[in-house]
Amino acid sequence: MNQQITIALSKGRIYEDTLPLLEAAGIAPLEDPSKSRKLILPTNNPLVRLLIVRATDAPTYVAHGAADMGVAGKDVLMEAPTDNLYELLDLQIARCKLMVAGPVVEKPHGHRLKIATKYLKSAQAYYAQKGEQVDLIKLYGSMEIAPLIDLADRIVDLVDTGNTLRANGLIPLEHIADISSRLIVNQHAYKTKFSQINEIITQFKTVIESQHA
Ligand code: ATP
Ligand code: PRP
Repeated sequence: MNQQITIALSKGRIYEDTLPLLEAAGIAPLEDPSKSRKLILPTNNPLVRLLIVRATDAPTYVAHGAADMGVAGKDVLMEAPTDNLYELLDLQIARCKLMVAGPVVEKPHGHRLKIATKYLKSAQAYYAQKGEQVDLIKLYGSMEIAPLIDLADRIVDLVDTGNTLRANGLIPLEHIADISSRLIVNQHAYKTKFSQINEIITQFKTVIESQHA
């Protein structure tokens, strides 16, 4: 028996890049989240609905079963508890790199490096693996400001074109990880709604393979 399928997505680049995949699976939202204030979007398939959530919240909705599946950046998944969910597919969208960046000319400092980042867990693991002791400062965005006003020496942030770094007089220094968005599925839903979820995954895979052949 077919059941309701709920998919958690953030608006912006993840939503835009997931649309063609959804389309291949025969799923078309009935409203555009950039125009509508609605956060639960019906689709052309009465059994499928989209939840429009914050990018960092997508794994929480899926882990708790409030959404059966969702799309989340690997950067977000590396920070979030991933109990109760499977990361089933690399969607190869929203690709960028997690990097250490800093000023072109670094000021001499007589203290442990101060690193501003939204990605505490990833930064901590990266510096631990290097055997380097640093002080991490948690920020929620606009990390690039931190070295400019001496809040931190360097940042750990996402880099794509490098335009944001350049515009703020920073350069990429060290590569931490390649990032792309992943399809995540609630473990219980994967059992109880297997054929419906698997059907969607198969359609997504066809598009991804044709795009990256
Ligand atoms: P939140 O609103 O929860 O703070 P956010 O503002 O980071 O999240 P988005 O900017 O929509 O949300 O980013 C969603 C995902 O897209 C990120 O988790 C990352 O995987 C990827 N991403 C972020 N910035 C870029 C970029 N410049 N180029 C390509 N992909 C990116
Ligand atoms: C992301 C990231 C960087 C920027 C990097 O920000 O936090 O600031 O993209 O991309 P670039 O190398 O192509 O300049 P985003 O555009 O998502 O803004 P936000 O973090 O404020 O949502």
